[in-house]
Amino acid sequence: MEFNANRRGFIKGAGTALGVAAAAGAAAALYGMKRTWDPLPSAVTAGITEVNLDGMQPGEVRTVEFRRKPVFILKKTDAMTPNAKRDIMIGSDRYMIAVGICTHLGCIPQWYSAEAKFKCACHGGEFDASGANVFGPPPRALEIPPFKINGTMLTLGEESDEYKKLAKTA
Ligand code: FES
Repeated sequence: MEFNANRRGFIKGAGTALGVAAAAGAAAALYGMKRTWDPLPSAVTAGITEVNLDGMQPGEVRTVEFRRKPVFILKKTDAMTPNAKRDIMIGSDRYMIAVGICTHLGCIPQWYSAEAKFKCACHGGEFDASGANVFGPPPRALEIPPFKINGTMLTLGEESDEYKKLAKTA
């Protein structure tokens, strides 16, 4: 009897230790994901992500987290084809801002700077520097998230007039 009671205690203790280790692992994974996705100074509160775009260089791509999804921010170079239906202007600079989830089956595309394309490894889909689908099975362009611009501050999660205009045409 005593052996069984001790054994139960041991099993219960081991289970608790495993639970703590799993929780610590999950927290570490989330922290790592946040660091990878969110290299720009940003603040996330109640479904709103704020990002200061000051200092981004032409051709630079950053990824931030918005409502548990990656959002790509690309400051376009002069060599990248303008797209009036999708480009977001900040002063004279053009930006592409899009949810980084493939519109085919939801994988996360990667940026290939030499080709100026986002490529999806799952089924070979490709999106250009404006986020438009240009090759493979994706049926439509990358989604533009609701946004507002104030100076160099980008707020994801607020629907500005500019967002509404792009959302209608993109
Ligand atoms: S999920 Fe991206 S091409 Fe299929």
